[in-house]
Amino acid sequence: MIPVFKPYIGADTCKAAVDALELGWLGMGSYVAAFEKELGNFLELPDQRRIVTVNTCTSALHLALLAAGVGPGDEVITPALNNIGDFQAIGMCGAHPVFCDIKQENLGLDPSKLEPLIGPKVKAIIALHYSGIPCDISDILAIAKRYNLRVIEDAAHAVGTRVSGKMIGSYGDLVCFSFDAIKTLTCIDGGAVAVNSQLEADYLYQARLLGMSQSNDVLYSNSRAYGFDVFKQGYRYHMANLHANIGLSQLAKLNTFIANRQKYSRKYNQLLRGVNGIVLPKTDYENISTFNYVIRVLDEQRQRLRVFLKERGVDTGIHWAPGNTFTLLRNCRGADMLPVTDEIGKQILTLPLWSFMDDEIIENVCQEIRGFYK
Ligand SMILES: Cc1ncc(COP(=O)(O)O)c(C=O)c1O
Repeated sequence: MIPVFKPYIGADTCKAAVDALELGWLGMGSYVAAFEKELGNFLELPDQRRIVTVNTCTSALHLALLAAGVGPGDEVITPALNNIGDFQAIGMCGAHPVFCDIKQENLGLDPSKLEPLIGPKVKAIIALHYSGIPCDISDILAIAKRYNLRVIEDAAHAVGTRVSGKMIGSYGDLVCFSFDAIKTLTCIDGGAVAVNSQLEADYLYQARLLGMSQSNDVLYSNSRAYGFDVFKQGYRYHMANLHANIGLSQLAKLNTFIANRQKYSRKYNQLLRGVNGIVLPKTDYENISTFNYVIRVLDEQRQRLRVFLKERGVDTGIHWAPGNTFTLLRNCRGADMLPVTDEIGKQILTLPLWSFMDDEIIENVCQEIRGFYK
């Protein structure tokens, strides 16, 4: 079976894990400091911006929402086509998701549908870069500015994507990344928030570690700080040395991962062009770091195509059922005003994409899809 995702775990990743175990300092420590520094370098952060790592992107989103001032009874606008972690992170703040529709072109928030949803309880907007393809972030930031709202960019799929020449995360407001088991860069589990000031980073440093006030300098030198105080509610969200060192080994290859995924996505676009019944991603992948390759299957043929491919050894995925289809979320504000999401949610299909694939695999997948439509 050709899997949908296949993380790159090479000898370098295994060595990084063993090194971290042999160091003997298993909690947050020097490798976390190094990973934050190297990730900041990779993302080309300007001086004032900071990276704060955490244990998952779901935690990153939770802390970013708290840093944005989101609290009980508030509302947060999010595309309904988003990861369940985003919806749950909003709920963890005691706030409520408000669903906004998406654009066909990039499957991200539709800025023209944003303003009518902004009411007195709305505190923030989550803008997802679906598949690593940028949403209309400059329009979204401009609308947010007019209404004095914070913007949390979900860049879980977009590590390395550039918008107008600038790396996502190096500008904007609060930007969250995921390094979970299947992401382009994996720490097995991990996440990060990019923020605009030392002050906001300092809040996140404490919030990720039970609200304790000890200095990072002590923790980052593989030792424990005593004599701390606790001023604020905190969570046990910090990243551990083991995960950070795995992340460091992956960072060293990230440019190759991105270039390969770009090449494979272009090959899919090329080999599937002209197949009647599917819609391909509308991008040439220039400056785009792709996490997954998603086509749209028209005419209610998605399930049949999935079964057909599975019978021929090709696994596929669905990312995701839209939020308004879940029992917990179906009554969220905006849930009944999502014509594009409702249509596209029934069509999206994720094809296999990893960081190192043989050309024949992609050719085989495309041949089977063409066979289905013959
Ligand atoms: C867009 C998006 N946001 C958030 C998450 C949650 O990330 P994590 O698994 O690191 O908590 C995911 C996970 O797949 C995701 O795809």
